[in-house]
Amino acid sequence: MTYILAIDQGTTSSRAILFDAQMQRVGTAQQEFTQYFPQEGWVEHDPEEIWDSVLNVCRQVMNEVGASADQIAGIGITNQRETTVVWNKTTGKAIHNAIVWQDRRTAEICQRFRDAGCEDDVTAQTGLLLDPYFSGTKVKWILDTVPGARDRAEAGELLFGTIDSFLIWRLTEGRVHATDATNAARTLLFDIHKGNWSAEICDLLDVPLSILPEVRDCAADFGQTGLFGGAIPILGVAGDQQAATIGQACFQPGMMKSTYGTGCFALLNTGTQPVESKNRLLTTIAYQLDGQRTYALEGSIFIAGAAVQWLRDALQIIDSAPQSGELAAQSDPNQHVVLVPAFTGLGAPYWKPDCRGAMFGLTRNSGRAEIARATLESIAFQTRDLWHAMQGDWGADADVILRVDGGMSASDWAMQGLSDILGAPVDRPVMQETTALGAAWLAGMKAGVYPNQAGFAETWALDQRFEPILPEADREAAYARWQRAVRATMAF
Ligand code: G3P
Repeated sequence: MTYILAIDQGTTSSRAILFDAQMQRVGTAQQEFTQYFPQEGWVEHDPEEIWDSVLNVCRQVMNEVGASADQIAGIGITNQRETTVVWNKTTGKAIHNAIVWQDRRTAEICQRFRDAGCEDDVTAQTGLLLDPYFSGTKVKWILDTVPGARDRAEAGELLFGTIDSFLIWRLTEGRVHATDATNAARTLLFDIHKGNWSAEICDLLDVPLSILPEVRDCAADFGQTGLFGGAIPILGVAGDQQAATIGQACFQPGMMKSTYGTGCFALLNTGTQPVESKNRLLTTIAYQLDGQRTYALEGSIFIAGAAVQWLRDALQIIDSAPQSGELAAQSDPNQHVVLVPAFTGLGAPYWKPDCRGAMFGLTRNSGRAEIARATLESIAFQTRDLWHAMQGDWGADADVILRVDGGMSASDWAMQGLSDILGAPVDRPVMQETTALGAAWLAGMKAGVYPNQAGFAETWALDQRFEPILPEADREAAYARWQRAVRATMAF
């Protein structure tokens, strides 16, 4: 037997997924780890817990499947993006907890640089905004705050990396300090047009170039690990949203995927030319293969599945997430309750970190079903916001095919609602483990086990296409209500 091992190091858990030579999933192991919230708006992970969880899940899935190291042709790594680790080159120990992508502690640093007029230049080079979401200001914070860190960094004693880079360093026992172009593109330090670190931005943020990893293709030689009973090459790396884009085979310009997890991240393939956003979307690298960069526009919604968790855990009106669709289906169609789930602010295209959630249109007859419906619809409305922003930026309003994945895509009711609100078809694939599959394909293709890009795209199979059935007038009236509700929420 020949296998490919995908490591999916996410925000709340680490997973290891074994695929066979036919790209079928044969085993999965998962382990959650602690979320640390040292202050309001701060989110940290312990790199040692992340590392232990990764080792555990890899060993567990290999045991369960009975796969030995010599049967694994390659490892593909995909990861929560932007999360920042700085570690000691000699001991491999981090000098501070990992600062997670959700962490807002560097908001003031970002504001200072914005006030100084730096944002346009940073955006022009990186495709990103001066927002605490990205790694650059998090590295600066660590170097400025941990005693002696800046001197040690300048003396060449420290290294920086996103989680992929940290895992590669640990897996290769300190032999390889590398990342891939998609993860580099989320650091705020990488020039996505030239494909190299920006000396100018590193200078602005006071981050020594010498601590940055080498940037490689997504399918490349990232060294070997000997930690699983024999040498296994690491051959694929991509940030998780980019891996999902690859796993969904969104290889043609105009193809878009939307992943519904805790949040929702939509990426639109724009081909070999980066598209500058005029609608506060991000320009990013979708993947880099054989030195050729393919770009994407990205929209990030911070609350999607988390709103369904809110129905379950805070309101306790459902027992499990799948019940939300059943309940919503029982709602009174004549009521127009609108929920703006800005629980942690609004992401793209609004970028309002201080805004908080609101509900509109309540009557005495509004109950659990109407609230469940408003919650699921809010996710569709937010997707339409992104959809509009993307079409506005890309200038092509035809032929955009949306492929969905992530937990909520399993709900027929939610996906029909999404198609109705968008007024466009929504495609759900048979294989919904798209993130892990994307990472596995990169490694398997590099190992010569899996087909090339075109061959892989042919294996994508449709589970169900949802076509809009809501009359146009109803769709537009519903979206207008959403837009009014967002405006009112932001003004509150
Ligand atoms: O940009 C953050 C994103 O990569 C996190 O994804 O799935 O780990 O929440 P996830």
